[in-house]
Amino acid sequence: MKLLLIDSSARAGSVTRQLTAKFAKEWKTNHPTAELIHRDLSTTPLPLITDDWNATKIEPSKLSPSQRNYLATSDALIEEVLAADIIVIGAPMYNFAISSLLKAWIDQIVRVGKTVAYGSDGPQGLLGNRKVVVITARGGAYEKGSSRENFDFQEPYLRHILGFVGLTDVTFIHAENQLRDGGGPSLAAAAERIGHLAA
Ligand SMILES: Cc1cc2nc3c(=O)[nH]c(=O)nc-3n(C[C@H](O)[C@H](O)[C@H](O)COP(=O)(O)O)c2cc1C
Repeated sequence: MKLLLIDSSARAGSVTRQLTAKFAKEWKTNHPTAELIHRDLSTTPLPLITDDWNATKIEPSKLSPSQRNYLATSDALIEEVLAADIIVIGAPMYNFAISSLLKAWIDQIVRVGKTVAYGSDGPQGLLGNRKVVVITARGGAYEKGSSRENFDFQEPYLRHILGFVGLTDVTFIHAENQLRDGGGPSLAAAAERIGHLAA
């Protein structure tokens, strides 16, 4: 069993970091022989996609050394995902969506021919059979059925893009109201759900 833990908050003492660390600690206690890979996107930020990304369309054996080198980050990140049985993503809400650190990771792992294939039936995700847990923190609240639900571009986007690469077994845990009074109960509920899930 391998757990890939991805943190994408810019803040060292962040809510999502606190919750992903709790998940990792409890999961390790429950699975002592399991391996944990921690990718902290704030301490090792990823390159942005440039024009050189066209190299992804070239048959691998025909890549030049510099193209191969350019794609090495994407290759390594995809290998990390392929090796994982469970992926835990800490995702702060920034501007109603995700942080640019997490978007940079997504841009590197969504790759035609490697994680998504186009056939006669359209795109097919190639990363199935893995569980994903997304732990978010938000300053406000965007509960289902509330008037603010439509402003949540974070969960719908992540569900869509993870599903696009075949990751459809996704559980979301939200710690809401973290910049308001009343954030405590939401944080406590998130921590409790994490306790159950990590078991
Ligand atoms: C750049 C930035 C943008 C933010 N945008 C939103 C937002 O659109 N909606 C919201 O509810 N909270 C927003 N927040 C508040 C964060 O979601 C909140 O502080 C959360 O705890 C961040 O996760 P973290 O503690 O893991 O860093 C924003 C915070 C920052 C730093």
